Amino acid sequence: MRLIVYLLGGIFLAACLPEQQNSTVASPADNTVSTQMVTLGDKLFHDVSLSSQGNQACASCHDVNRAFSDADKTIPVSKGSEVGQFGTRNTPAASYTRFIPPLHQEQDDGETLWIGGLFLDGRVNNLEEQAQKPFLNPAEMNNKDAADVVAKLRASTNANLFREVFGSDALDIGKEDQAFGQMAQAIAAFERTPVFSPFSSKFDFYLQGKAQFTTLELQGMSLFIRADKGNCAACHPVTASADGTPALFTDFSYDNIGVPRHPNRQFFTENFVDEGLAKTTNDPTLRGQFRVATLRNIAKTAPYMHNGRFDNLREVVEFYNTRDVEPQRWGEAEVPETVNRDELGNLRLTDREIDAIVAFLNTLSDGYQP
Ligand code: HEC
Ligand code: HEC
Repeated sequence: MRLIVYLLGGIFLAACLPEQQNSTVASPADNTVSTQMVTLGDKLFHDVSLSSQGNQACASCHDVNRAFSDADKTIPVSKGSEVGQFGTRNTPAASYTRFIPPLHQEQDDGETLWIGGLFLDGRVNNLEEQAQKPFLNPAEMNNKDAADVVAKLRASTNANLFREVFGSDALDIGKEDQAFGQMAQAIAAFERTPVFSPFSSKFDFYLQGKAQFTTLELQGMSLFIRADKGNCAACHPVTASADGTPALFTDFSYDNIGVPRHPNRQFFTENFVDEGLAKTTNDPTLRGQFRVATLRNIAKTAPYMHNGRFDNLREVVEFYNTRDVEPQRWGEAEVPETVNRDELGNLRLTDREIDAIVAFLNTLSDGYQP
């Protein structure tokens, strides 16, 4: 048990939670943000001309209406710019990623935990670093190198705005590496705006006393928290952090929850294993571990888990409920030997309790009108 054991009943939760405040997380000191830079970041995020086939932007896989995850629910992964190219991971929400701390270790009860880092395996440390990768990933935007990307930017409708933000010589020959870094800087600035982190869910309004939960939602919140029931909050905390940031529903730690292999052979070979955190840290005991996902907007971001194995939230909760009781239903995990068997797998939840947890998860979608 690595976190506080929650003994609270959900009905009293609101009274017990720290007061919510407007979150103010500073950008890294070297990312000086102007409104113009944010506008540029927005445009670059949506510019399909910056891919090898001129058909893919960040927004192609990170759709604003899906909490910046992939709107295409028909496949577990995402299409690349090149026909027939696919990645091997389900596109996560880019919402709320500005709160992910750099990868680091923390001591907890004599245990060393890995916390933070972007990508599901924590291999980069901030949004600036992250934003460069998709441009060069062969399964994504598939450009050859920084110069290739910057050549496309130079020929695009955003070239002048880029020069206004970074200087009239910013796209000159010989400045490609610097310009590529500046593109990532602008995109990261856009990703830090409230468009990505609005905190406008029914849950947020409920905590502010501006919305009421139904009986089912209240029951779901209680089950979500209780260690003897869903125990979800052990990894997906429902409390605001010390600096006043409202709950992000992730402690940014890593775990192997035993997500079964994906049966679709178009995207995953029979013996496909995603090493997760083990690859980033070079520590084989961490094979199959992934960063705990935020559950904000979770109703909008199907399919679920690193390999997109589950199509809907009910299936996810049923998996947590009966993973160890009905192994034949779920199938083998990609890395069976590191699966967490202490905190999930046999929750003994009834159908009605599962419905309640799903109802609670549905209150986490931004854009609620109180
Ligand atoms: C082809 C689909 C695709 C495109 C295009 C794409 N992404 Fe992603 N994005 C993904 C996938 C898949 C992951 C998870 C990959 C991993 O963990 O290795 C991801 C991860 C991320 C993350 C980290 C999320 C987290 O929880 O750690 C951010 C932020 C992000 N992308 C932003 C961007 C930006 C900015 C661009 C454009 C420069 C972009 N993406 C282009 C599919 C895409
Ligand atoms: C021991 C820690 C732990 C507990 C307890 C836990 N989760 Fe998770 N959860 C994770 C991790 C780690 C992932 C990402 C796993 C992956 O992709 O392989 C995850 C992923 C998810 C996802 C999919 C997120 C996405 O974007 O694809 C949902 C939904 C979810 N959890 C809901 C719950 C619910 C509901 C409960 C309680 C019934 C719960 N979790 C309990 C660690 C935990």
